Amino acid sequence: MTSLIGSSDLDVFPLSLGGNVFGWTADRDASFDILDAYTAAGGNFIDTADSYSAFAPGNHGGESETIIGEWMADRGVRDQIVVATKVSRHPDFMGLAAANIRAAADASLARLQTDVIDLYFAHFDDEETPLEETAGAFDELVKAGKVRYIALSNYSPERIDAYFEVARANGFALPVALQPHYNLVHRNDFEDTLAPIAEREHLGVVPYYSLASGFLTGKYRSKDDIGDSPRASGAAKFVSTQGLAIIDALERIGRAHGASITTTALAWLLAKPTVVAPIASASRVSQVADLVAVADVTLSSDEVAELDAVSAWNG
Ligand SMILES: NC(=O)c1ccc[n+]([C@@H]2O[C@H](COP(=O)([O-])OP(=O)(O)OC[C@H]3O[C@@H](n4cnc5c(N)ncnc54)[C@H](OP(=O)(O)O)[C@@H]3O)[C@@H](O)[C@H]2O)c1
Repeated sequence: MTSLIGSSDLDVFPLSLGGNVFGWTADRDASFDILDAYTAAGGNFIDTADSYSAFAPGNHGGESETIIGEWMADRGVRDQIVVATKVSRHPDFMGLAAANIRAAADASLARLQTDVIDLYFAHFDDEETPLEETAGAFDELVKAGKVRYIALSNYSPERIDAYFEVARANGFALPVALQPHYNLVHRNDFEDTLAPIAEREHLGVVPYYSLASGFLTGKYRSKDDIGDSPRASGAAKFVSTQGLAIIDALERIGRAHGASITTTALAWLLAKPTVVAPIASASRVSQVADLVAVADVTLSSDEVAELDAVSAWNG
C-alpha cells in the first residue's frame, strides 16, 4: 500500500521513518539496522533535516544526512528511496535567504551522496526574508534538477497562504506537502486551521511527533516510567488522567486489530483526510515492526470517532 504525496508523483509507504535519531539516540550501526528493517518491510520514505542532530551534545548538524547517505550508497538503494530533507536550522545555514538555501542544498546533496533531493522542506519560516526570495530560490533548485518537489513545515496558516500567493503570482513551483506537529495529544493547531489549507491546496500531510516523543507507545504510564531516554521528559509530560484515557482507548481498539498501542496511534493519524504518512522514528531496530505495521491496519469510522472523542480535550 503506497500513495502519492499531494499533487506530486512521489509514491510513498504510509509510514515515514524519522531521521532525527540517526547520530543521536541511534549510532551508525543501529541506524543502518533500523533503515534495513524499515526497507525490508516495504518502507521507502525517509525524513531528515540538515540540522539533525545539532541538538545532540558533540554534534554540529548533518550527522543524520551523512548516515542516510552512507547507508543508501552501501546498500545501493538510492533509486528506491524517497528522501525528504529540510533547510533553515543547520548552524552554518540558518534561515531562508536565497544564497543560504542554495548553499545548504548543495551541502545536503553531498552528505546524502545524491544529485537530487526528492522533497525539500522549509524547516521553519523565516519572516526576515521576503517570501519572493525564498520561493524563488526553491523554484531555481527545482528548475536546476537538484530538488524534485518543495514543501513547508512549521509555517502559520497565514504564511502558507502568503507562500502560495507569491509562488502563483511568480509562476514558482508550489509546495506539495506540509509537515505539522500533529498527534492524539496535539490536535487543534492542525485540525482547526492547517487541515483546511491542506485540503484546498492538495498538500500531502506528513505529521511529526506522531508518537508524542514515545508517550503514544503506552510505555509511560506513570512518572516512575521515565527512563534514561533523552526523549522521556518530552513524553512524560502527557502522563495524566486524560492522557492515559487515550492510551487505554488505543489499547482496546488496537486489540481488535491485533495491533499495538503504537501502531493504533499511527493508524488514527493515517485515517485523517490529507495525511499521507505519519513520521515516526525508532531508536532501536526492535521498535520498527510496530511502526511499519500501520500499513496493515485500517481503523473503522467508529473507532476513529471514539479516539477523536477521548482526545477531544487536548490543546
Ligand atoms: N519538522 C519538524 O520541525 C520536526 C520536529 C520534530 C520531529 N520531526 C521529524 O519527525 C520524526 C519523528 O519525531 P520524533 O522522533 O521526535 O518523535 P516520535 O516519532 O513521536 O517518537 C519517536 C520515539 O518514540 C520511541 N519509540 C518509537 N517506536 C517505539 C516502539 N515501537 N516502542 C516503544 N517506543 C518507541 C523512540 O524513542 P526512545 O528512544 O525514547 O525509545 C522513538 O525515537 C523525527 O525523526 C523527524 O524526522 C520533524
